[in-house]
Amino acid sequence: MEEYFAANRRRWDEAVGIHVNSTTGAYRLPQFRAGAEVLAPIESAEIGDVTGRRLLHLQCHFGLDTLSLARRGATVTGLDFSPKAVEAARALSAESGVPGTFVLGNLYDAPDLIDGSFDVVYVTWGAINWLPDIRRWAEIVAHFLAPGGYLYLLEGHPAVMALEQAEDGRLVPHYPYFQGPEPFVSDEETTYTGDTARLVNARCYEWIHPLSDVVNAVLGAGLALDFLNEHDRLAWKLFPCMVDSGDRIMERLPPEVTSLPLAFSLKASKR
Ligand SMILES: C[S@@+](CC[C@H](N)C(=O)[O-])C[C@H]1O[C@@H](n2cnc3c(N)ncnc32)[C@H](O)[C@@H]1O
Repeated sequence: MEEYFAANRRRWDEAVGIHVNSTTGAYRLPQFRAGAEVLAPIESAEIGDVTGRRLLHLQCHFGLDTLSLARRGATVTGLDFSPKAVEAARALSAESGVPGTFVLGNLYDAPDLIDGSFDVVYVTWGAINWLPDIRRWAEIVAHFLAPGGYLYLLEGHPAVMALEQAEDGRLVPHYPYFQGPEPFVSDEETTYTGDTARLVNARCYEWIHPLSDVVNAVLGAGLALDFLNEHDRLAWKLFPCMVDSGDRIMERLPPEVTSLPLAFSLKASKR
């Protein structure tokens, strides 16, 4: 497993520089620097009031959402295994004056790295696909939640992650939805922001977790499901046919193509 994590970390370390300097608008860093909080519309509407809450953002990347949640009044801690991501997050916190604690480490080591418990564990957009063991992930989430606290998870929908757009434009099954323990390997040389910069460390390893596995992992970890929602928008352009929804950074399928659940979100509480 270590070799998969090492390859993924190399890719993410390199992607951070591209994302921080992105010119496509995929990350709304200029707006953040101007004083805005830049959560995308789905999480913005669903996360609820985080004022005064202790919030743990797992796989926080360079901290843009973490610090946006701090601007909403939460006391934030972010964790990521990419040294470049954590370095950039700390720099963004210092530059903006928005307080946040950023911890370097693998998600699976988080209980050894972070003390205390949290009112909210926040996980969004392209996080759990980097994790081989979704049950252990849910146990770690539950470990960090204080009684009455909740997990907020927002992710690309695994059913559409199994599709690909064919040359004739149709969306067709391509990756196995029921993948099993082996990762799928990809060598995509550019990242999801649409920037043209090429990655040297393109090779990476991902796991598609069926929706039922995610929900059952959360329930199996002792959390109670508050809601499960499906969405017709996604935070990145998964297929070339997708169009800007005009709703900040969201992408959707044009109605003439079809209508599919592109993302799902869930809230689950520790009673
Ligand atoms: C797509 S980003 C998540 C985006 C995030 N929602 C945000 O606020 O920008 C995925 C992040 O997961 C991190 N990551 C991947 N595998 C990890 C692991 N095993 N442990 C900790 N972080 C990991 C990467 O370094 C990367 O920053």
